[in-house]
Formats: sequence, structure tokens, C-alpha cells
Amino acid sequence: MISIDYHERPGVHVLPALPYARNALEPIISARTLSFHYGKHHAGYIDTLNRLIAGTAFEALSLEQLMAASAGKADLAAIFNSAAQAWNHSFYWRSLRPKGGGTPPAALRHIIEGAFGSVETCKNELARAAANVVGNGWVWLVLFAGHIKVLKTNNAETPLNWGMQPLLTLDVWEHAYYLDYQNRRADYFTAVIDKLINWDFVAENLSPAFGMQGIAEAARTARIGSGISLLSH
Ligand code: FE2
Repeated sequence: MISIDYHERPGVHVLPALPYARNALEPIISARTLSFHYGKHHAGYIDTLNRLIAGTAFEALSLEQLMAASAGKADLAAIFNSAAQAWNHSFYWRSLRPKGGGTPPAALRHIIEGAFGSVETCKNELARAAANVVGNGWVWLVLFAGHIKVLKTNNAETPLNWGMQPLLTLDVWEHAYYLDYQNRRADYFTAVIDKLINWDFVAENLSPAFGMQGIAEAARTARIGSGISLLSH
């Protein structure tokens, strides 16, 4: 998987640069939403994390090490939530791009068609997973045991901690859409899925799993089998 660069040094996690201008996702996501979401919410998770780990042994850990060390531990829930939300948001920004959506690159399209039957079905599964999130959470496209799957997580939970390789994520927290869409969450997801998904990022994340031959070979040999599962957690 492509590493997320957090420009961190021990004990100090830094908000990574947004990969596009704050108005670059308009009209689907407004500059106002992006300014709050990135500049307040994402930045807030990182500030909280730095405060929580200050002066502790956790200062020596990377973000992903912090997530692994704190996952599922009630006494470390605040650290997990901050670390995972920091990671999830960095992954989310890169899951979107201006003038995104549309048709995936050819090799990726073949893989998705092999797994879901069609790109449209994959997109419908993402939308259905988002609709099934109760409260706040995330929707993911992941690679797990050779299969591409759509799943949802609650709150800050991330499939990284379940041994899965994230390929794409969509933010289902209310702060991701409320300024622009209020209660019309489904409209937000339809627009994001159709217009903003960064399929190139999905392909980049998928490619290392298949070594030098890459995803084109994976598509040719159908190493990614069919099988859609909607996991609930
Ligand atoms: Fe968010």
C-alpha cells in the first residue's frame, strides 16, 4: 500500500498538505466545508493526538504503530480515535480528486468488473454501505484475501487494524457534508461517487499487491476473484 506521508517526527504529528486547493472539489464539496473539515476537524484530531501522547512512551510510535497499539483497548480509546481519524482523513483526501469519478483506468476497470460485475454495481455497493452507516463512520473499498470488498466502519474504526488493505475511503461523518447537504446524505454520496472518486489512487493502492506485473496482469489472470461482501461492524 502507498504510504501516507505525515511529515512526522517522534511525538509530533503534523497535518499533511491537502492534495488540492480548498475550492478544488466544488461544486460537489464547497470550499467552506473543506476548510472546516480539513482545517478544523482533521487538524483537531492531530492536535489532540499530540497532546495525548506528549511525555508518554507513545511519542516514539508512528501513526500506524499508534493505531495498532491502541486498537480495541478501552483505556487507549482516545489515542486510537485521534490517530485513526488522522490516518483516515489523510487517506480520504487522496481518495478524491477534482474532476474525479467517471470510468476507472482500463486495468482497474477489468478488476472491478471481475469482482462486482460492473463499475456501476461497485458504485452502488459504496452508496448502499454509506446508507447503512448509523451515525458517523466510513465506507471503504479494501483488498482482503485476494478479494475486493466494500465495507463500512463505525466512528474511527479502520480496516487497517483488521489486516485489510484500504484502497479507497469515503467519509460518512456528518461534518463531511452537513454544511452543503444538511440531511441529504445520500445526495452527497451520489455526487462524490460519481464526480470525485480518485480511481487512479485506487489503482496505485492495488498495484503493489501484485508486484511488478501490476494490476493489468491481475486482471488478465483473474487473481482477484468475484465476491462482494458487505461487512457490518
Ligand atoms: Fe471527517
